[in-house]
Amino acid sequence: MWPEKLGKQLGHPTWSIGGWLVSRFFIKRNRVLEENAVRLCGIQPGDTVLEVGHGPGLGLQSAAKLLYDPKGRLIGVDHSEYMHNKANMLLKKHIASGKVILHCCDVAALPLSDNSVDKVFHCNCYYFWPDLRKGTSELHRVMKPGAFMVTTLRLATVSYLASKQVMPLHNWQPEVYMAALRNSGFSDVKMEDKHSENITFQVIYATALK
Ligand SMILES: C[S@@+](CC[C@H](N)C(=O)[O-])C[C@H]1O[C@@H](n2cnc3c(N)ncnc32)[C@H](O)[C@@H]1O
Repeated sequence: MWPEKLGKQLGHPTWSIGGWLVSRFFIKRNRVLEENAVRLCGIQPGDTVLEVGHGPGLGLQSAAKLLYDPKGRLIGVDHSEYMHNKANMLLKKHIASGKVILHCCDVAALPLSDNSVDKVFHCNCYYFWPDLRKGTSELHRVMKPGAFMVTTLRLATVSYLASKQVMPLHNWQPEVYMAALRNSGFSDVKMEDKHSENITFQVIYATALK
């Protein structure tokens, strides 16, 4: 796939051979990132949890298992109809029970009330948001005071893809994303290296103080 086409499919997979290929890639390559984002978020059984840009839904699947209190809710948003449908199929049992709700929408316009979410996680997603400040402000709006957010990425892979002109925007640099978080009212914003299953990845933490 050409770099520009690959970048478009990574950021907004469509019902096409390209979309199918990137979806296979997410499942094979990003499971560790998704599972660690869920683990590091510190989900409690009765929490309301949001994942942005869930892709095929592996992170949603592992978060749903932790929300065993009847009050526990999991919300997934992705602006790709193809990914929304894939995750709908994977999570159908939890959706039918009312524990999981999926929305096909943009992070910049979440159909959620103010101060309603306890934990947020996302993997490999912010680099595709056209306006980081809008996305982070919207997340801040829906998070409860003191709510916690975890972002996971493999910086080495992302910077390699950027050097090959795959990344459509310059937003992939963690410093740019962390500055947007601070400007939107997040505090304790920091990045750490982590290792799991022989993979090195980065985690960005942020707390929504109000
Ligand atoms: C590179 S994929 C990562 C998927 C999954 N999180 C993973 O790590 O395998 C990026 C995902 O974020 C979604 N996405 C990108 N920009 C978005 C936005 N502005 N609002 C909602 N979803 C977005 C894409 O549709 C895609 O499913």
